[in-house]
Amino acid sequence: MAAKSKGTTKRKKDGVSGPTPGDIKAAECSADPVPVPKKGVRPKIRRLAMLTGGGDCPGLNAVLRAVTKTCIHKYGVACYGVEEGFHGLIYRRAQALRMEDVSGILTLGGTILGSSNKDNPFSHTMLINGKTQTVDLSGECVEYIRQMGWDCLVAIGGDGTLAMAAQFAKKGVPIIGVPKTIDNDLSATDYTFGFHTAVQTAVEAIDKLHTTAMSHHRVMIVEMMGRYTGHLALEAGVAGGGDIILIPEIPYDIDAVCKEVVRRSRAGKRFSIVVVAEGAKPVGGDVTVAKMIEGSHDPVRLGGIAHLLADQISRRTHLEARATVLGHLQRGGTPTAVDRILSTKYGYHAAELAVRGRFGRMVALHGNEIVDVPLEKGIQKLKQVPVDDPLIAAARAVGTCFGEPEEG
Ligand code: F6P
Repeated sequence: MAAKSKGTTKRKKDGVSGPTPGDIKAAECSADPVPVPKKGVRPKIRRLAMLTGGGDCPGLNAVLRAVTKTCIHKYGVACYGVEEGFHGLIYRRAQALRMEDVSGILTLGGTILGSSNKDNPFSHTMLINGKTQTVDLSGECVEYIRQMGWDCLVAIGGDGTLAMAAQFAKKGVPIIGVPKTIDNDLSATDYTFGFHTAVQTAVEAIDKLHTTAMSHHRVMIVEMMGRYTGHLALEAGVAGGGDIILIPEIPYDIDAVCKEVVRRSRAGKRFSIVVVAEGAKPVGGDVTVAKMIEGSHDPVRLGGIAHLLADQISRRTHLEARATVLGHLQRGGTPTAVDRILSTKYGYHAAELAVRGRFGRMVALHGNEIVDVPLEKGIQKLKQVPVDDPLIAAARAVGTCFGEPEEG
């Protein structure tokens, strides 16, 4: 049965200027009625909505496709997509998702729903009576979900999105989380989808930088994303044959980094590749901040360390050092086969949880198995690279330097 947007209440808040969540009409949003299968599990829900929040990454569309197809095809559950993450929940924008809407999107990067990493319904900044104020609009969002007749909301995102999802779960909203991020920094899952593609993209970039480094005898410094963790830089650095890898979990000493560059040069290696995570920091120092984004769940945007290092290395070693910041390239493009499969499994598992009424859970990968964990557990802890990670040991064994200060 399709939900009718026209029936939703239109509220007016006196003295509120600019776009007011209560004033914005729910989107024309009616999914095709779908036949309910006669056999198998009887779904406990009739309508499910999805949103993609935070930074985009490859595999989001594959999840949307898997949830929608499983819901409609297997269970006759109607599906909806909230536009631009929590922004759409605040401003009441959604669309029906039918089979044809999700057809052909498996290989498509980004998200057909749009995303936002700035909107927090629990602390939303808006103009009221000409003044910028921060208000809690979560109650209005819960009301919108009720009006739309959504029996389940699937929140697909990283720690910010999942933290807000957990807050909505506490308010009684039936929620299921799906972990996404190129950072792979969620402790409750072995891998988030999007990570594998980002590693692949970064490795291709390092491969290309190698040829210029060799031809011009330069020190090439490549800056990767990953926020406060070094999963991306470590995996891409090892796979790309980085000579020096700097990650947040192992604070570096600039003297040790320069010494290694000079040692390589004297040994006849006429170039060095330095792979640095955006969150890497010197011993006793702090991360390099590029800017602050107002209203964001995590307002700090890291960046700039590659240029800093290039400057320090060229001044100290008199070798030519150049910086390349991979930036959002790491979030773009078509998902790898690994991410397409992981996203499909996650989406399928999320739909199976939804039809059984198992809310407040997050799907996760443990070993080779897709499992589900309590939503709050999914966001409890930042997953950092353990310093005794076998990949670090293997990298050291093949001569990779992590820039640690020399002992003694
Ligand atoms: O969390 C994903 C991520 O790409 C981080 O690796 C990076 O620090 C951040 O998002 C960048 O955010 P934005 O797209 O707002 O610049």
